[in-house]
Amino acid sequence: MNILLIGSGGREHTFSWKMSQSPLCTQLFIAPGNAGTAQHGTNLPLDIANFEAVKTIILERDIKMVVVGPEAPLVQGIYDFIENDTALNGVMVIGPAKSGAILEGSKAFSKAFMAEYGIPTAGYQEFSLAELEAGMNYIDTQTPPIVLKADGLAAGKGVLIINDREEAKVALKKMLEGQFGAASSKVVIEEFLDGIEFSVFTLTDGKDYKILPIAKDYKRIGEGDTGLNTGGMGCVSPVPFVDAELMKKVEERIIKPTIKGIQARGMTYKGFVFFGIIRVKNEPFVIEYNCRMGDPETEVVFPRLKNDLVKLMTAMSNGELSNQTIEIDERSATAVFLVSGGYPEKYEKGKEIRNLDQVKNTLVFHAGTKAVDNKIVTNGGRVIALTALGDTMEAALAISNQNATIIDFDGKNYRTDIGFDLV
Ligand code: AMP
Ligand code: GLY
Repeated sequence: MNILLIGSGGREHTFSWKMSQSPLCTQLFIAPGNAGTAQHGTNLPLDIANFEAVKTIILERDIKMVVVGPEAPLVQGIYDFIENDTALNGVMVIGPAKSGAILEGSKAFSKAFMAEYGIPTAGYQEFSLAELEAGMNYIDTQTPPIVLKADGLAAGKGVLIINDREEAKVALKKMLEGQFGAASSKVVIEEFLDGIEFSVFTLTDGKDYKILPIAKDYKRIGEGDTGLNTGGMGCVSPVPFVDAELMKKVEERIIKPTIKGIQARGMTYKGFVFFGIIRVKNEPFVIEYNCRMGDPETEVVFPRLKNDLVKLMTAMSNGELSNQTIEIDERSATAVFLVSGGYPEKYEKGKEIRNLDQVKNTLVFHAGTKAVDNKIVTNGGRVIALTALGDTMEAALAISNQNATIIDFDGKNYRTDIGFDLV
């Protein structure tokens, strides 16, 4: 069958790499894609918010499966759009309907959902602008740091962690007055959890679930986890401190009740559930849900997945996930991200990427890259993820780190300490 993958990051390059290995995949189209996805299929220009344009591609290219990488089209209802159009009958969409994507699309919704199904998460209250005073009074009752979360999608910038109550009140007011547009017309204020985070991924067809390899990403720009937040500087899978006992707690207390809640509420969900988990004194709590795979987590999770991904996703779409068995490569996978100088603040694009053909024993997943005049140039802050597999995390990291010295572009920056807190 012909497949359309929506998105353009390292996650999507990894999806395209994995899906193109499947005998079930005839032609793969990626919209808009990047220079990496073009190695595995045909890139098509697309504004991913334009569902009519998606429809045109589906019809013109005889697409039978649409795989949605990022959250925004899911939260905006791309599943429902395709499902409700008779001209698109029988087209599978990988990702939840709007009714499921709201788990990521509204923090207030997800907090109420977790409360209803007894899923461990930080204590919270939500406030609108009309309740500003109550919000400020609530901050007075909290011990800093104060965690403020815009209710809706804010391009990963909607969470503020503030050490001072008065500053938090000013920030609350700013958010409610529209700092993140409609996304912060409601704000969740929640208890700060002090612990270590990791990412858990499941596939679900709305009834059953399958657990994929877990991962941990490194979000800060600087060595030792310092400096500004980024879209991810590196990643490891598995995560050494997440043992069978902790994973059992995650499954029993978090995954099972979430899938039960999805089913009980009649949410349509044929896609990935990404649980952002924090471990506090060996107990797991949900920090957030995402309705998609993670980035850069996908770059280490899929290389460890032995299954045919297209077969798994087809089973998921048909409600037959229970027949599938997940097979995992026991080795460790690590990814080191090469980023543009200046990122996550101001940076330049269009720098030629050199030595791409010189890497050894490494998967090169493109994120912000573009082909121009037979050259590959940088086209974003996060440029390339270098994924290696090894018998130990240290062995894999040695390969990722070595190859990070080989690929080069003006201004290249990367962290040399991915996994530093796990050894
Ligand atoms: P989110 O967008 O909800 O994932 O939040 C972004 C980041 O803020 C998370 O990955 C955590 O590092 C941090 N964070 C969010 N909520 C909390 C919390 N309740 N306690 C501590 N850290 C948090
Ligand atoms: N790595 C975190 C995310 O994809 O949201």
